Amino acid sequence: MNKKIFAANWKLNKTPDQAAAFAQDFLAKTSEKFFETKEAFIFPQNFSLDKLSQNLKKSPVRFGPQQIHIEVKGAFTGENSLAIAQSIGSTICLIGHSERRQIFSELNSSINKKVLLSQSLDTLPVLCIGESLEQRQKNETLKVCFEQLEAALSAVNLSKRIVVAYEPVWAIGTGQVASLDQVKEVHAELFQKMTSMNFKNFQLIYGGSVKADNAKDLIALDHVDGFLIGGASLEVTSFLDICNFDS
Ligand code: PGA
Repeated sequence: MNKKIFAANWKLNKTPDQAAAFAQDFLAKTSEKFFETKEAFIFPQNFSLDKLSQNLKKSPVRFGPQQIHIEVKGAFTGENSLAIAQSIGSTICLIGHSERRQIFSELNSSINKKVLLSQSLDTLPVLCIGESLEQRQKNETLKVCFEQLEAALSAVNLSKRIVVAYEPVWAIGTGQVASLDQVKEVHAELFQKMTSMNFKNFQLIYGGSVKADNAKDLIALDHVDGFLIGGASLEVTSFLDICNFDS
């Protein structure tokens, strides 16, 4: 059975020192047993990657950037290189988060290039997809998710591991978590879709206002292999309360 994934998306929060303190506290409060059944991922703001690397490189906790450029080097002022992140120990990267799509106008076509790049560098991509409130109200949830999935995963290597995070945009940072029926339905459909696209090694995680009090019911659903967590991942206690859904 796959390990459950607990991915922290810190967004534009935490100084390098705060990131280091989080890492130390998190490791102090987890044991080898924790990592037998669970994986922990952290997506910090880029300035904290190096400090996280210093604190986590001997641990099973994986970390990586929240956003990458489609090229690894060159004249691209202000961009982030996955190869440089990798040189300081990053083994994962977040791709296509709805804030990137909405605020920074990221398109499916560049998201696809980023997935391809991450695969070529043997970095695990965590690809985000999800519908807006308007799209849900128009009954377009599955159409939108499938379109995002097909575009982002065009021509990718089907045998390489990939994590897909289903994050309904209306549930992100709003406190309005999707209902169990909504998550169950979309995850079942996404599982079918990924299987029909011939993916061999994928996990589906849910994101959007995940907290300790809804984590247990959500993770009990079929095809929910973990969570992408924003607000509740900023404190070790609230993050661990979610990870320890089974204790
Ligand atoms: P949230 O964010 O948990 O604060 O809703 C989730 C995300 O943006 O990945």
